[in-house]
Amino acid sequence: MEKMYFDSAATTIVRPEVIAKMVSVLKEDYGNPSSSHSYGRSAKNHIEQARKNIAKYLGVKASEIIFTSGGTEADNLVINSAVRDLGVKHIITSRIEHHGVLHTVQEIESQTGIAVSYVSVKENGTLDYQQFESLLRSSNEKTLVSLMHINNEIGTILDIELVASLCDQYDAFFHSDMVQSIGHYAVDLSKISIDFIAVSAHKFHGPKGIGFTYIKQNSGLKPLIFGGEQERGYRAGTESVHNIVGMDEALRLSYEKLDEERDYILSLKQYFIENLEKNIEKVKFNANCTDSINSTYTLLNVCLPVSIDKAGILLFHLDINGIACSKGSACQSGSSKGSHVLAEILSDEDLQKPSIRFSFSTYNTFKEIDYVINVLKKFIEDN
Ligand SMILES: Cc1ncc(COP(=O)(O)O)c(C=O)c1O
Repeated sequence: MEKMYFDSAATTIVRPEVIAKMVSVLKEDYGNPSSSHSYGRSAKNHIEQARKNIAKYLGVKASEIIFTSGGTEADNLVINSAVRDLGVKHIITSRIEHHGVLHTVQEIESQTGIAVSYVSVKENGTLDYQQFESLLRSSNEKTLVSLMHINNEIGTILDIELVASLCDQYDAFFHSDMVQSIGHYAVDLSKISIDFIAVSAHKFHGPKGIGFTYIKQNSGLKPLIFGGEQERGYRAGTESVHNIVGMDEALRLSYEKLDEERDYILSLKQYFIENLEKNIEKVKFNANCTDSINSTYTLLNVCLPVSIDKAGILLFHLDINGIACSKGSACQSGSSKGSHVLAEILSDEDLQKPSIRFSFSTYNTFKEIDYVINVLKKFIEDN
């Protein structure tokens, strides 16, 4: 049986060019970047070149890029330090953030008693920007806003320019988890008034266990992990040179192929939508998934007309038919809890039905989509 991968929002296939670069570094450049001899200097050069390249893509200074183990660590670093070191007493976020943000904020709230406000989420997954502004206006304390650029479960895109300009206007720090957008959209940070972002390489065909945070110059942020002087003291621990080089190569290729791959993936998504509508009566698309401007081209969250007693076996059925996709997000697939994102936007009735996230990459084909539609159609007819 052929297997097919529709779970690129969870993690992506690593590009062969990325693997080749990483293997070469593992073989040839195994020196510790902190060592002063030629092996160490060569490893260090790789890291600094990667930092420069990444900074250039994002329109920032190389010194503003700090490598981390991924998106979760970057979110934790920013939020914890903002409260500990920048005098933040109020956090504004939303209930549809990734748990890397949500659980960090909740932990700080329970430890410090800091005020946390949540921006209301509309049925279509977008935020209530008027209510957001009134939260900012009425905030009397130093505030950190943490709102994700693209939602990993429903794909809704934040109006980042608006949020950034409001944060500027009300003198709040702005952090955005951009794990689902960097590598898929050309984000120019020099044009956005933003203090911090979190990024993860494995979402754009790079390796797992590596990411970075952009920390605006002179922000005053301090480390979360203490030890050596790596990353200018922001993040101690021997750098993962092969991962950093792999991430740099993955980002380079993403930018090189951005337009071509976006057009192709968007056409896959549109074909999927059209054929689901044609073949599955009463199918629903969650949030604003079908809106090609305000929702990412990389994913589709579908609510299927399947009875509650059969909902549990649907994902298993897709899996045994070779189709990998996700219920909610992968980070919670090992847990019995439903999606905290869908819980915010769906009616009680729709929450009883199975919602599946299909997420795409350049490696998917139209033929695979035909196969998925057939499997889904047959399952619904038989059940
Ligand atoms: C929006 C978002 N933020 C953060 C993360 C966590 O990133 P990492 O796996 O690199 O820790 C993910 C991964 O699913 C994500 O989708």
